[in-house]
Amino acid sequence: MKRPELDDAWRALQAHRKSWKSVQLRDLFREDKKRFERFTLRLNDLLLDYSKNLITPETLKLLLRLAKAAELKDARAALFAGKKINLTEGRAVLHTALRAPADLNLMVDGHNVMVDVRRVLKQMRSFVGRVHGRKWKGYTGKPISDIVNIGIGGSDLGPAMVCQSLAPYAHPGIRAHFVSNVDPTHLSETLKRLTPETTLFVVASKTFTTQETLANAHAARAWLLAGARDSRAVARHFVAVSTHTEEVIRFGIDPANMFEFWDWVGGRYSLWSAIGLPIALYLGMDRFEELLAGAHDMDEHFQAAPLEANMPVILALLGIWYNNFWDAQSYAVLPYDQYLARLPAYLQQLDMESSGKGVTRDGQPVRVSTGPVLFGEPGTNGQHAFYQLIHQGTKLVPCDFLVAAESHNPLEDQHEILLANVFAQAEALMRGKTRAEARAELKAQGLKKKEITALLPHKVFPGNRPSNTLIYHRLTPRNLGRLIALYEHKVFVQGVIWDINPYDQWGVELGKQLARNILPELKSPEAVHSHDASTNGLINYCKGLREEP
Ligand code: F6P
Repeated sequence: MKRPELDDAWRALQAHRKSWKSVQLRDLFREDKKRFERFTLRLNDLLLDYSKNLITPETLKLLLRLAKAAELKDARAALFAGKKINLTEGRAVLHTALRAPADLNLMVDGHNVMVDVRRVLKQMRSFVGRVHGRKWKGYTGKPISDIVNIGIGGSDLGPAMVCQSLAPYAHPGIRAHFVSNVDPTHLSETLKRLTPETTLFVVASKTFTTQETLANAHAARAWLLAGARDSRAVARHFVAVSTHTEEVIRFGIDPANMFEFWDWVGGRYSLWSAIGLPIALYLGMDRFEELLAGAHDMDEHFQAAPLEANMPVILALLGIWYNNFWDAQSYAVLPYDQYLARLPAYLQQLDMESSGKGVTRDGQPVRVSTGPVLFGEPGTNGQHAFYQLIHQGTKLVPCDFLVAAESHNPLEDQHEILLANVFAQAEALMRGKTRAEARAELKAQGLKKKEITALLPHKVFPGNRPSNTLIYHRLTPRNLGRLIALYEHKVFVQGVIWDINPYDQWGVELGKQLARNILPELKSPEAVHSHDASTNGLINYCKGLREEP
């Protein structure tokens, strides 16, 4: 930390944390009847209830002091203005421009990037219209029925998560599939269900050099040509999404079938760009633009709302409170919404690739703990798996619950059962169950004194386990856009306070480099001696197994 006011704000929070030793959330709710009103925020029908957090008005005041000391407002202005805040790659970070109103102008390096954004959106609309209008035909003249997106990381997780989340809005007659893993099983199992003449591959890669994506794309092309027996079919069945035209041409895709995006769009922030093409193909361009509009709603809120009433700022500060002052190591995202089943996986990349950093923006070792381990599963499944640890384990796991008031699939009272569970979980985590309450229950069940004494410690819930609840009317494209942008900006705010760069990912490089060395060694018949004993031993043992019949 360079700025003394930041150190002061940090120290004030450390002192404040000590005052929390004997405070119980259930008491705070009893004492303050307005706690829900005090600690909720709304954006249209999206409500954030953060009242079940280990906070008082004083905590928030101190957290906001930290945000101000970190000069959050200036950093936010630099983000939206297209300043090159991704310092290690010398790039602007402008995913917000991708969902900005059509009349905006935004200059980067003397060029109005909005002209490009509008051009590609138009190109996407025209292409989606041709596919949906059955005018874009496969090599036998049949229209396209199946889209296969081949990409990984940011070129997969966002579109895959959005398509799954918005399945009720799918365009009739179009199915979307996502192949990311280099494990040949992923592509093979996907293609088993498809026929080449009606399948369109979208090869999505910012760099167009990613090993997994190129391997899958080459295999997909071979599968197509095994059916078509004419290389001209590639042009009807392969389109590319990339920032690198030369690499797309090198792969053999006609640049006329390429959808461009730009180096100022980070991979894990790219679903709003042409990387969203499978979303637009699956849902239609109008729905894709509703998703963009939802994200823009959150962009506007993030820019305009005062810090104390600003959803991304509040979520970020609460995360910092637990991560840095309560030593929480993890963070659970728990959608009570089956459509959001892939949201935790998507957020793992967004949060952990962005905030898993050990050096500050100017390359000094960080002095504070940075991003937590994020995990999650849809409710109610998680309740029957890992919630035990969250309720009674020794670790503090702050949670975000997400739920829609109305289901797209009303079935008897199942949605009410789902709602009852999400509200109950947040309540249980907050309230806990005291010794006296647990004892009274066991007594009422008719247990003997000795039995009660033995069971009692196991039946107590400490409570004081914090959570946020995000509730919205229905999971629409617009609401999903708002939710995703909310988490994007949360990550940004935390990056400002931790003084890290959330927009690079050098930590993924070493493994890639080493895999490139090992691949030829695996293919050669010679025993390998070039690594440490463990790596040599594993490679040679594996080679031995592969020689067995
Ligand atoms: O895993 C590292 C990474 O660079 C991610 O940040 C990115 O989203 C992914 O690989 C895919 O990269 P590309 O879109 O260039 O294929």
